[in-house]
Amino acid sequence: SAASADEHDNFLECLSNKFKNTTTSISPNLIYTPNNSSYTPILRFSIQNLRFTSESTPKPLVIITPEQETQIPHVIYCAKENNIHIRIRSGGHDYEGLSYVSEIPFVILDLINFDGITVDAEQKTAWVESGARIGALYYRIAERSRTLGFPAGVCPTVGVGGHFSGGGYGSLLRKYGLSADNVVDARIIDVNGKILDRKSMGDDLFWAIRGGGGASFGVILAWKIQLVDVPDRVSVFTVSRTLEQNATQLIHRWQYIANNFDRDLFIRILVRRVNNISQNTTIRAEFQSIFLGGVDTLLPLMQESFPELGLVREDCIEMSWIQSVLYFAGFPIESPEVLLNRTQPNVRYFKAKSDYVQRPIPEYGLEGIWRLFYEQEADEAEIILSPYGGIMDNISESSIPFPHRAGNLYKIQHLVYWGENEALNSDRYISWIRRLYSYMAPYVSRFPRAAYMNYRDLDIGVNNNEGKTSYSQARIWGFKYFKNNFDRLVRVKTKVDPGNFFRNEQSIPSLYSSW
Ligand code: FDA
Repeated sequence: SAASADEHDNFLECLSNKFKNTTTSISPNLIYTPNNSSYTPILRFSIQNLRFTSESTPKPLVIITPEQETQIPHVIYCAKENNIHIRIRSGGHDYEGLSYVSEIPFVILDLINFDGITVDAEQKTAWVESGARIGALYYRIAERSRTLGFPAGVCPTVGVGGHFSGGGYGSLLRKYGLSADNVVDARIIDVNGKILDRKSMGDDLFWAIRGGGGASFGVILAWKIQLVDVPDRVSVFTVSRTLEQNATQLIHRWQYIANNFDRDLFIRILVRRVNNISQNTTIRAEFQSIFLGGVDTLLPLMQESFPELGLVREDCIEMSWIQSVLYFAGFPIESPEVLLNRTQPNVRYFKAKSDYVQRPIPEYGLEGIWRLFYEQEADEAEIILSPYGGIMDNISESSIPFPHRAGNLYKIQHLVYWGENEALNSDRYISWIRRLYSYMAPYVSRFPRAAYMNYRDLDIGVNNNEGKTSYSQARIWGFKYFKNNFDRLVRVKTKVDPGNFFRNEQSIPSLYSSW
């Protein structure tokens, strides 16, 4: 539109003046406008959900990929001056595409060039820039030490910027908690273009960005993290059981024990529809596990706490921790270099939702899920059950904004995928997962029906695109992600970004803003 063409020109002119009149410069190669042939490749590069690649998906006026911290304040200044939105992108894994899609005119600040990682094995800490991927972080840690690790997600291409600021969990969750629980310092650029660290940002802001979502508060440049001890050898196994092999009973039983296991033991379950050997449709549960120790210790532990699974020595493999990262991500364990890849080949169309389970679901409740999985749209649907307990029970609900601690047995991630050929039928798949979500209501957390912010779901509530979002409107989704921590997040937001410059469909509102 004409309006957006003007905004675009004014913004670019502002940038060029800013860089002309200060000591900081920026190479024109770092600024991509739609008539630049690299614009589309750079936009698509880190998109992780093909739902947001269609022609009709709103596109940014400009993509900026700064190389130096001091370039970023100019981008913030010119965006403010011209009433243009900024979407900050690190790894691009946002489930609803919020880091690269907006209904109102916007630019993408892409931190692709901020991917430095410095590991201090002696101090057991590391500085990680926001555009780095967790796979590269794992790789760099392992390069220095076989007995250090970090609790973060399973998929290596996830970006540190979104992941740490929204929580971040993986197979070390029961022993060490979330990524955000293990952040000890950070560098952020605020709405005034000031670069702050833990000390200068103060306790409130430092609290907010560890789980409250970075995008509401500023541009997070880098994180200092506490590395954690892992043993020289860990054990992994994946045991699959179909309905004919008592999958329902095993899942039912798992619910009573998985959160009480020894903290060194993490067993998650991936459930999907498959064909069995006689080509009949069935449900398969994959019990996928890591134990922070050797098989000789694991076997008696399993015999005592979960004999029903029938785990035997042949199911288990001992390996280093970094190899277990590869194993969980589905890669051959011999070549850790794949962890340095910034993109993954398997990008699909999907929609996901999350739930917390506080009382075991009865067998008939599970069977109702299976019935939904037999429907056509669930061809590539999946639920992933991740056990809580362990240290998660000992961290207080208000320690960081992420509130889902004691009282939760496990978390479910509901996922439905579909292919290019079904792109025009996306609504069918989305309504399937909404039906699954309604079906689950009696079995999961209530008041609020809690959700994990890193599994972003715009169905649970959104802000206004235009005009003011009231506290009570934002609280609808905010209470689900953050419970009572939402109120403190609003106070922090009102203090650090009163004009609500950093905003999106699910950003924390400022009480003073007219937006
Ligand atoms: P992206 O760049 O899309 O950012 C996400 C949000 O954070 C956006 O709102 C963005 O604006 C904001 N943001 C990003 N960088 C910022 C910065 N530097 N400063 C301020 N705001 C910033 N989660 C998990 O806990 N465990 C797991 O195992 C997995 N696995 C997984 C696999 C796959 C394939 C996907 C697609 C996603 C996951 N996730 C996950 C979810 C993941 O943690 C979540 O999507 C993160 O927010 C992704 O962070 P990115 O930086 O990649 O996203």
